[in-house]
Amino acid sequence: MCPDHRSTVIPPRARGAAGSAVAVAHPNIALIKYWGKRDEQLVLPWTDSLSMTLDIFPTTTRVRLAPGASDDTVTLDGAPARGEALRRVTAFLAVVRARAGLRQRAVVDSENTVPTGAGLASSASGFAALALAAAAAYGLDLDATALSRLARRGSGSASRSVFGGFALWHAGTSEDADRGSYAERVPAEGVDPALVVAILDAGRKDVSSREAMRRTVDTSPLYRSWAASSRADLLDMRAALSRGDLDAVGEIAERNAFGMHATMLAARPAVRYLSPATFTVLDSVLRLRREGTAAYATMDAGPNVKVLCRRADAERVAAVVREAAAGAPVHVAGPGPGARLMGEDR
Ligand code: PMV
Repeated sequence: MCPDHRSTVIPPRARGAAGSAVAVAHPNIALIKYWGKRDEQLVLPWTDSLSMTLDIFPTTTRVRLAPGASDDTVTLDGAPARGEALRRVTAFLAVVRARAGLRQRAVVDSENTVPTGAGLASSASGFAALALAAAAAYGLDLDATALSRLARRGSGSASRSVFGGFALWHAGTSEDADRGSYAERVPAEGVDPALVVAILDAGRKDVSSREAMRRTVDTSPLYRSWAASSRADLLDMRAALSRGDLDAVGEIAERNAFGMHATMLAARPAVRYLSPATFTVLDSVLRLRREGTAAYATMDAGPNVKVLCRRADAERVAAVVREAAAGAPVHVAGPGPGARLMGEDR
C-alpha cells in the first residue's frame, strides 16, 4: 500500500553529522484523536491516538548546520519565521542539539503545501520532516521509534507522520514517560480507504490547538469521560482495522471526533472550531449514508471536514462534498508514505 517505515530510519551514509539534509513528510489525520497533554514539556498525551497518513500536502524541510552563527535562521514558506513559530522551531532544535552534543546553530528552510495553522495537520508534516532532516544534519543515529519520539517533542501529532499508512501513538505510562510515548505502524490490509478533504477555511485559527487542549483539560467537565470513551474507541478501532471493516472504522472515527469537539464546547470559555459551513458538509455526509454510501466525517482544530470513505467511492463522495462546500477546495487523499530523507543532500 505504501512504502514501509524502514525508509524512515536514517541510513548509515547519512549518519555522522551530515551537516545538511532534506526530508519530506506528509500530514496525518487522526481517526482516534489526541486531545490533551499530561506533560506539556515532553508532549505526553493523556490517551493513545490513531491516524492515517495522507498522500497529499507534503512538507519539505532542509536543515543545514551554520558554524559560527549565533542564532538559528528559520524560513517558512519563503518568509522568515517570527514569534511563536520561530520559538517552537528553535526550541525543537535545542532538543536535537542536546542529544547530539553539538552547539552549532542551523539554517532551516521549510515549504508546506497545505495551509499552515488551519487544523489541516501542517504541524504534523512540518515537525516530522524537521525531526528527520535535523537528526540527519546533526548526525543522530535514530531508528523509527526514536525518530517518532523526537518528532513528538515538536508537535504531538508529528510522532505519527513518521510512519506511512495507519499509525498508533502510544500515550505511554507515567513510569516510562518519554521513552514509552511513540508511534508505530498499524496493519490495516483489508481496508482501501480515501479521505475527502474539504478546506472550508484555510485561515489561521484564533485559538491554537496547544491553548485549546490546555483549556479543555483544565476546565471542561466532559474531558475525563471523553478520555475514557476514547480509550474504548481505540480498542474498537484496532479490531475494526484488523478485520478490514471500513464502516466500523468510519463510525468509530466520527463518534470520537464529535466527542472531542463536545469536550471543547464544554470548556470555559468554550472553544468552537466548527462553523456553519462545517455543518452543511456534515449534512451532506449524512445524506450520502442514508443513500447507502459509506462516508464518515472527522474534524480537527479547525472547521475543515475530512470524509472517510472507500477508495472506490471517493470521486462520488468528493462530488457531493464539493457541492455542499459551495466552491471551497475539496481534495481526495489516499494513505501516504512515512517521512523520508531526500537523496540530494546525502
Ligand atoms: O499535534 P498538535 O498539537 O497540532 O495537535 C493535533 C490535535 C488534533 O489534530 C486535533 C488531533 C490529532 O490527533 O491530530
